[in-house]
Amino acid sequence: MKPILSAPVLLAVAATMLLVRAQAPVTLKEAYRGAFLIGAAVNAAQFTGQDARGSALVKTHFNSITPENVLKWENIHPRLDTYAFDLPDKYVAFGEENQMLIVGHCLVWHNQIPGEVFRDARGNLVKRKVLLKRMRDHIHMVVGRYKGRIKSWDVVNEALNDDGTLRQTLWLRIIGPDYIAKAFKCAHEADPHAELTYNDYSLENEPKRNGAIALVERLKARGIPITSVGLQGHDNLAWPSADEEDRTIRAFAELGVNVIISELDVDVLPTELTEGSADVNAHVNADPSLNPYVSGLPDGVQQTLARRYAELFGVFLRHHEVVRRVTLWGVTDGDSWRNDWPVKGRTNYPLLFDRKGQPKLAFEAVIGASAGRPAN
Ligand code: XIL
Repeated sequence: MKPILSAPVLLAVAATMLLVRAQAPVTLKEAYRGAFLIGAAVNAAQFTGQDARGSALVKTHFNSITPENVLKWENIHPRLDTYAFDLPDKYVAFGEENQMLIVGHCLVWHNQIPGEVFRDARGNLVKRKVLLKRMRDHIHMVVGRYKGRIKSWDVVNEALNDDGTLRQTLWLRIIGPDYIAKAFKCAHEADPHAELTYNDYSLENEPKRNGAIALVERLKARGIPITSVGLQGHDNLAWPSADEEDRTIRAFAELGVNVIISELDVDVLPTELTEGSADVNAHVNADPSLNPYVSGLPDGVQQTLARRYAELFGVFLRHHEVVRRVTLWGVTDGDSWRNDWPVKGRTNYPLLFDRKGQPKLAFEAVIGASAGRPAN
């Protein structure tokens, strides 16, 4: 009997398959198209093009951007009567030129904000009314300026303690617990179509997660327009477990909000902080024992990191109906804040591209984990 396909045809088919494989779109955003967006936190050098290599990586692999620092209060509104829109405008223009979902980070936070926001000319704390007005003016000015262009805002950042109670910030002390609801209302007034997020770290730990669940429930019960919860995801090789991540996403999904993985990175270095903490005010003294991989990441750890990334993306993918976006907090290992936090001057390897901008094993693992994504 004549074979259905002759040897030359079979060869041609095999060759084509190899070619297709070689040309398969191996970009992060393509790999997860149909599941969720893939974002990166970008710095000014990247979005102005000064860092051409970083800029090219962002354009190739990501379809969402978050500003690592330029939209924080101290940068966009450095004095009570001064706004600095130059870099924020360039950030937004970069996102538009590249058809990306542009994220705003962040409106109300206790860090990276000038102390004078909370004080009068004599240095005394202002009254509730004054601070409410300052908050409202800031939100209207910033959200209003980018209305319809920045489509997703981190409205309140890190308002909870590890035990789930409200963090003692000057926002809480001066305005009271309703400062959170007020912030969301102002943001909604300024742009009724924007996605509005409560963003925090360590929500995978049960007490803090319960605090966040209660907060979201309170807001929703009062009709406050919160659309999503951001799990920052400053993870390490062991924390959080896949189970805890899964449980956390599920818990928020049940409340009827979307979940955003908003600041993902995976620490490979020893640390002495509470697991999952990303408290930017925490500092641990430098010590050579805390900086073991100065001259390169050993293969074994590289592989562990890759497996860890695959595990996390596996969980995100299982929840693709509620997970809107996974944003990495930086592009290459060299850019990452985790080289300087919580210990200054270390050599960390938390992201998917190495210091030369080359894809790491963890990158391949994330692409590999996308095999189970839903059909487009
Ligand atoms: C970090 C930035 O990456 C650093 O460049 C900056 O010095 C401090 O803030 N949680 C957040 C982010 O919400 O804004 C923080 O970003 C990291 C922790």
